[in-house]
Amino acid sequence: MNYLSLTPEELKIEKEKAEREYRTHCTRGLSLDLSRGKPAADQLALSMPMLTEQADEFRAEAGTDCRNYGILEGLPEMRRLFSEITGIPAANILACGNASLNLMYDSVARAMLYGVVGSPRPWGREETVKFLCPVPGYDRHFRICESLGIDMISVEMNENGPDMDTVEELVKDPAVKGIWCVPKYSNPSGITYSDDVVTRLAAMETAAPDFRIFWDNAYVIHDLYNETDPLADIFALCKQHGHEDRVFYFTSTSKVTFPGAGVAMMAASDANLKQILPILGTQTIGFDKLNQLRHVRFLKNAENTAAIMRGHAACIRPKFEAMLDILEKELGELGIAKWTKPNGGYFISLDLPNGCAKRVYELAKAAGVTLTPAGATYPYGRDVRDHNLRLAPTFAKLNEIQDATAVLCCAVRLAAAEKLLSDRA
Ligand SMILES: Cc1ncc(COP(=O)(O)O)c(C=O)c1O
Repeated sequence: MNYLSLTPEELKIEKEKAEREYRTHCTRGLSLDLSRGKPAADQLALSMPMLTEQADEFRAEAGTDCRNYGILEGLPEMRRLFSEITGIPAANILACGNASLNLMYDSVARAMLYGVVGSPRPWGREETVKFLCPVPGYDRHFRICESLGIDMISVEMNENGPDMDTVEELVKDPAVKGIWCVPKYSNPSGITYSDDVVTRLAAMETAAPDFRIFWDNAYVIHDLYNETDPLADIFALCKQHGHEDRVFYFTSTSKVTFPGAGVAMMAASDANLKQILPILGTQTIGFDKLNQLRHVRFLKNAENTAAIMRGHAACIRPKFEAMLDILEKELGELGIAKWTKPNGGYFISLDLPNGCAKRVYELAKAAGVTLTPAGATYPYGRDVRDHNLRLAPTFAKLNEIQDATAVLCCAVRLAAAEKLLSDRA
């Protein structure tokens, strides 16, 4: 059955069926949450040896006493580990504090205050500063721009990444200074940028001489399956195309070890680091080296880290698959919903008929299922089509995911039937 080909009478019957089912869900007293993109307790348990087995470690490999001040760039062995994971030379990597979001905020704020290499003046002294925001995207990126007074321009994502024809057109405006990218297992669509998209981002000509790509590779090693989605090396490609200062690269161990208590990194060209380090050194004497030491001793190398990530995948893959199975079973043939089937990351993106996302959010909430608010995946929280929802299957227990997804599907059927009926009235 496809809702789009039903007569109004048939649609009405489907709506009444969904309403009856919905009322039953509402009597169950559910309290479930599909909004939180964080690891569950079984995943956090994987990293407990890091805390329990190394309580009195404090010397780094060069003999550095990590209990004391020093080494602004971070421990060499931690930078090396990030280098193994990302393929970027260790010399271009800073191992920093507990959160990459913090580094991203600081990088934008620093550009506003001081400019970046190649800036005619600090961004904050420009009349307007604009960022390109591939959508659906990560709400916290958008909040950084909103908070610092940067105008945001949405660019649609397709299955290869941001629509590059649009991006290449928009960067002809010298006020466009940056783009947010979550290139692998994107938040929320789960897609990975194609080689062509990465190459075009690295190669394109921009009117702003100080244009920056904010490359948030938060899900760099977060595969659900043994196969990984390949991602081209933006760092090498920017250099190859004569734009080596263009990329600011970020990732962290938030979803490898402990979110909020991991290690974050930033990578940038030599010239960028030369500009950034004195400012960073004004902000802090150094980051938490004890935490970096714990991490590098626990994670050891890229290969061992990959083994830990397979442990995470074993915890969350059944949850993703359960959610996808129910979506397929409940909505697969109805013609009213499309969703992504990611090979990694933390999210599934659900597209509904225009005008249905807020209604589904409200229906789910009233039945005891919390979703990420409709609109959150768009700049300013405004999804003009009101059609996208982000689903986060990692945190809840498997049976909760199943219950919550069933409620969600019922809400989608009800909202879509209501909308189609009202459109035809
Ligand atoms: C795309 C993306 N970037 C960054 C973060 C936060 O990373 P961190 O904990 O390193 O600040 C998240 C967390 O959900 C994320 O989805």
